[in-house]
Amino acid sequence: MPNSRPAGLPAPGHFTYGVATASYQVEGAIGADGRTPSIWDTFTQRPGAIRDGSDGSVACDSYHRLDEDLALVADLGVDHYRFSLAWPRILPGGTRAAGVEERGLDYYDRLVDGLLERGVAPMPTLYHWDLPQVLEDAGGWLARDTGRHLAELAEVVHARLGDRVGMWATLNEPYCSAYLGYAAGIHAPGRRLGTGAHAAAHHLLLGHAWAAQALRDAGADDVGIVLNLAPIWSERPEADAVADGVDAIRNRVWLGPLTDGAYDDGLLAIAPELTDPALVQDGDLAAIAGSAEWIGINYYNPERPDLAREGDPTDGVPVYPGVERLVLRPRGPLTDIGWEVDAQGMTQVLVDTHERTGLPVLVCENGAAYHDTLAEGRVDDAARVDYLRDHVAAVEKARAAGADVRGYVAWTLLDNFEWAEGYTQTFGIVHVDRSTRARTRKASFHWYAEYLRQRRDAR
Ligand code: NOJ
Repeated sequence: MPNSRPAGLPAPGHFTYGVATASYQVEGAIGADGRTPSIWDTFTQRPGAIRDGSDGSVACDSYHRLDEDLALVADLGVDHYRFSLAWPRILPGGTRAAGVEERGLDYYDRLVDGLLERGVAPMPTLYHWDLPQVLEDAGGWLARDTGRHLAELAEVVHARLGDRVGMWATLNEPYCSAYLGYAAGIHAPGRRLGTGAHAAAHHLLLGHAWAAQALRDAGADDVGIVLNLAPIWSERPEADAVADGVDAIRNRVWLGPLTDGAYDDGLLAIAPELTDPALVQDGDLAAIAGSAEWIGINYYNPERPDLAREGDPTDGVPVYPGVERLVLRPRGPLTDIGWEVDAQGMTQVLVDTHERTGLPVLVCENGAAYHDTLAEGRVDDAARVDYLRDHVAAVEKARAAGADVRGYVAWTLLDNFEWAEGYTQTFGIVHVDRSTRARTRKASFHWYAEYLRQRRDAR
């Protein structure tokens, strides 16, 4: 047992810097030590689902390269390392009743100890999209029980790691789990249910609330949720209604219940499923209200919704189900994944979210996909350095404007499995060779390390 409380959410006025990864994107070793398939193991086998036909079966092989990764994190000089726990490694049958896999927990035990030995605090996320397939077979996030099982996972991991973890995140980007997974079908489990996906959103929120409660009951402090909130910039007055719909599904469906204990009327108008008392049961919204002590924000770009005109593509998948005639019009400059670069959006989302919720906010992801070249052992990713520098400055602006921002976590340590994009898009500050898995620090790694060193020296 450590003799001091492990670093949690920084106190008001204090700030933490970090770097993030997620289990399925880096670990590989999908058959090791009793791990069972997740929905991503299944989905990646579906022809056409992943741009390059790849999967996370080896990924960065982080499961077997813990020491290498720990050395990178330590040399970077971050305060926190954000990572996620692979549910199918820990509860291979999905539920606690089906058995706890101690060997899976051992890996995270070693990770946490390795971080602490190097002066880095762990920031685990319970669920970053790798649901056990066995639970999907029982309904996945369309089933209320899945939320109960998330709370069991929370109890099991807290019992093992809780003495050394100071802050917890429950979910990562439930918007993606619910709507990319169950409305658009472009993420696992690949279902196209349109507005039927609102059931998944509600169950994710419930799962968050139950897991947060389980963590707190076990003695945890500083439990938060990580959302990919976005500033929504309507293209023109005629587009305001569709912009409101995008805001409802991207932002308000989460913040409403978490902050006010309610889904708002504008949202309910396009999501009548959420008025069904069989779905939203008595007590649900009260359980969700106030269940997050901090809000993590993953910010990459603003969204610019417009009302589709003649000639606009109409065959898009409904990533905002129920919002009719929507087209998104990102403006350049774009990163190589096609996402708009606008650091002001970062300032705005932090200021707005703090004002809206009254809670401390923390940037839990921010970064850029660029196609890098490794030449003579070097990767000069100047565009990524610019992106990170501008966004770190945008966080400072938000703080100066009064937003209670407690941290900044860069996405991501390693070039890794970028979901439906496979390995075609790289966000890492460390290059990973696709055949040898050799790690090479990019210019952005050196920039961030130097930034952190100067900050330490100034204290
Ligand atoms: C959001 C997700 O949390 C992460 O898994 C993903 O790789 C990045 N953003 C980039 O898309």
